[in-house]
Amino acid sequence: MLEGKNIRLRLRDKEDLDFLFEFWNHIEYYGEYEAIQPQMSRSEIEKRIESSTTTDAGVTWTWFVIEKKDGTKIGLMVYFTNQPRGWIEIGYALLPQEMGKGYATEAVQIIVDYLFLSKDIMRIQATTDERNKASQRVLEKVGFMKEGTIRKSGFMRGEWVNDYLYSILREEWRAPKILTKQK
Ligand SMILES: CC(C)(COP(=O)(O)OP(=O)(O)OC[C@H]1O[C@@H](n2cnc3c(N)ncnc32)[C@H](O)[C@@H]1OP(=O)(O)O)[C@@H](O)C(=O)NCCC(=O)NCCS
Repeated sequence: MLEGKNIRLRLRDKEDLDFLFEFWNHIEYYGEYEAIQPQMSRSEIEKRIESSTTTDAGVTWTWFVIEKKDGTKIGLMVYFTNQPRGWIEIGYALLPQEMGKGYATEAVQIIVDYLFLSKDIMRIQATTDERNKASQRVLEKVGFMKEGTIRKSGFMRGEWVNDYLYSILREEWRAPKILTKQK
């Protein structure tokens, strides 16, 4: 459990089945700039969440549920890595009714603290659709820098879209901002 001030990140587990079923099968929860995923049945999701970590084509994904302090589930955080290259990438999404309250910024700060405290990595990166200003602002508030544009990086909702690549280096992070002690 990674405890912040208003929220915490908890490794996803079987008790999250209802929440994940809701989240993955509601197109409006992906926001405007994420690819549309095929609908998933409860049993498919149940199988996926047997572990909080999944490996696909050599890339390992670790999933967290973002919760308020009272236990209300409000979003998802993931990090993934291909260890030989020594980088970690993050992704995140909140329920629409919980956006704009600073929770995503806090969640990203928590995961950045956790990853630099616990992993032997030099950089954490994130990509965002170039139109996704809220996500870019979140990354910039946590200290990520824009490295450049990944041109026509994916075909989404009927058009080729550009992404921005953001990163934060260990020397830019310097010290934990929220996770001052590990639990
Ligand atoms: C991206 C996302 C997680 C941000 O969540 P959030 O709860 O709004 O984030 P926060 O409240 O912590 O911060 C949002 C910041 O963006 C700003 N912002 C929001 N919309 C904006 C816009 N259209 N243009 C510029 N800034 C914007 C807010 O003002 C705030 O900045 P501030 O604190 O300086 O005022 C949320 O929009 C989401 O889940 N979107 C769908 C999934 C997604 O796009 N995930 C990211 C994939 S890379």
